[in-house]
Amino acid sequence: MPSTLRFMEAPPRHGEPALPQAVFEGLSRRPRSLPCRFFYDEIGSALFERICRLPEYYPTRTERALLERYADEIVDAAAAAPPTATGFGGPLSLIELGSGSSGKTRLLIEAALRRQEWLHYVPIDISGEFLKESAQVLRADYPDLSVTALAAEYRDALRLLPPADGPRLFVFLGSNIGNFEAGAAVDLLRDLRGKMAAQDRLLVGVDLVKSRHVLEAAYNDAAGVTEAFNKNLLARINREMGADFDLDLWEHRAPWVEQASRIEMWLVSRCDQVVTLPAQAAGGGGPRHFAFRRGEGIHTENSHKYTPEAFGSLCRAAGLNIRRSWADGRDWFGAFLLEPGGTTA
Ligand code: AVJ
Repeated sequence: MPSTLRFMEAPPRHGEPALPQAVFEGLSRRPRSLPCRFFYDEIGSALFERICRLPEYYPTRTERALLERYADEIVDAAAAAPPTATGFGGPLSLIELGSGSSGKTRLLIEAALRRQEWLHYVPIDISGEFLKESAQVLRADYPDLSVTALAAEYRDALRLLPPADGPRLFVFLGSNIGNFEAGAAVDLLRDLRGKMAAQDRLLVGVDLVKSRHVLEAAYNDAAGVTEAFNKNLLARINREMGADFDLDLWEHRAPWVEQASRIEMWLVSRCDQVVTLPAQAAGGGGPRHFAFRRGEGIHTENSHKYTPEAFGSLCRAAGLNIRRSWADGRDWFGAFLLEPGGTTA
């Protein structure tokens, strides 16, 4: 089977608002908030790569260690699902949501290529340029890999999936699911469930509940990279909308909020201040001013952590069952292999 590379962009049907609209809406709300998806411009993506290498930020390296140790087991478990009337007994294929540079996925790709002669890999990512580049690198590195890269939001991409000729392993790594509130996480899992045939599986990487000390250190690193990542949101609004946020007047905070089981990231105003967005960014009608009191915050991200039990109920609410799971020795991070369950009610 010759390797191929296809690249497709899905038109944004799901219609999440673009930056200017999201900024106006978010800063007009109480408490004020900005959507975390805007962290990832070129600078923000580079800062996130640095976060992944920080000594305090355990999720990336813990998940990688899990995949290093268990990739063969995971792929075997996914490929061994009994073929059904809709599956044609072909080779396993991999579909990844939020693939980024596909770094950790290489471990799964290599495990699949130890089992079968060739592999179809479908990375999905919102950042088209990044996706195209990493798809080309992957194809060059693995002659037996066919890549169909989909540049789109998750929901839009799911509509473009190529037809399956065998079992499919969907993968959603990095605890990206943690960014979603419970209801939205169930919606996303249920969407995925809707795409899965009986023999398909979904692997989700989930950051687990642990001590406040470890959690807070991971989001308040000594080198200040997470602070820079958080503040890049304001810098980006300055760059792209001509706003006048003074980054020195904002403080990075990332507390563990136990009753919500999440790390919340905030930017807190160090003084009473006014921030101005110029008229053209405001869509005409004169510049817009936003007054902040000292101590007032902008909520920028939630990063939910789960117990295996809580994650199990989330899955069941989406019509999925946990078939197998793997964790590191300290139970800091889990990999959950899900199968379609009874109902999606
Ligand atoms: C990429 C969403 C999993 O929540 O840990 C890292 C993003 N934010 N440090 C996370 C993030 C602050 C990260 N996720």
